[in-house]
Amino acid sequence: MLALNNVEVVYDGVILVLKGVSLNAEEGQITTLLGANGAGKTTTLKAISGLLHTERGQVTKGSVELDGERLDRLQPFDVVKRGVAQVFEGRRVFENLSVEENLIAGAHSRRNYADVRAGIDRVYASFPVLKERRHVSAGYLSGGEQQMLVIGRALMSDPKVILLDEPSLGLAPMVIDEIFGVIRRLKDEQNITVLLVEQNAALALDIADHGYVMENGRIVLEGPAESLRQNSDIKEFYLGLNEAGTRRSYRDTKNYRRRKRWLS
Ligand SMILES: Nc1ncnc2c1ncn2[C@@H]1O[C@H](COP(=O)(O)OP(=O)(O)O)[C@@H](O)[C@H]1O
Ligand SMILES: [Mg+2]
Repeated sequence: MLALNNVEVVYDGVILVLKGVSLNAEEGQITTLLGANGAGKTTTLKAISGLLHTERGQVTKGSVELDGERLDRLQPFDVVKRGVAQVFEGRRVFENLSVEENLIAGAHSRRNYADVRAGIDRVYASFPVLKERRHVSAGYLSGGEQQMLVIGRALMSDPKVILLDEPSLGLAPMVIDEIFGVIRRLKDEQNITVLLVEQNAALALDIADHGYVMENGRIVLEGPAESLRQNSDIKEFYLGLNEAGTRRSYRDTKNYRRRKRWLS
């Protein structure tokens, strides 16, 4: 299990962004972290992967543990070695490298060529389209294919836990369905623990086992995904539905946000 215990994060020595975040991602489950833009979701992932250091951010309180072992004092490279891989926001592929070269670039923790090859073949088995396009420059892939490539690249480190930052962002609905199918299979077929950050609550709660809602650097709500789907605040605030279950207009939702800082 991946556990954050009362984690505080400060940027530039003064900006308190995470104000005591506790959450668990249970082994072999999909846990989703929801929240509006600026809530602190990406910061939470970086606190886990050790990437805060590169942004003058620091965990100033609390701890991050994987199966009881502290991660929060490790360098990013060592966090990957412990089995935690992060997929960044925005599908950052190496555009001028081929698909296969991108995968090789994710293989730094592997010992020899046979090992790298085995990893690549496993990724191709999960994503046949990447195999078809293995010699194509990654810059020429579609958005969905690039998202598969960055997930595939993360899988090259053979992770126990994968952190995904808004994989649906900017993709067409059909492509999102495909990516979410991929995420479900990580869990079902490879027993990978998934921590999925999303703004798209409806989609994320659909595949997640458990969910957390973050607002202003704090967890304001948590529970089994099923119960969050039924939660009236979530329905109104994130799914844009009213009590009768009909969709509200965007403007209604925006006014609602202004009116109510819920659960504060
Ligand atoms: N490197 C940084 N330095 C200072 N502030 C930052 C930095 N990165 C993020 N922040 C601030 O932290 C808050 C949370 O950001 P972030 O974790 O990216 O939220 P989210 O991913 O939920 O949109 C925002 O107010 C953002 O401006
Ligand atoms: Mg973010």
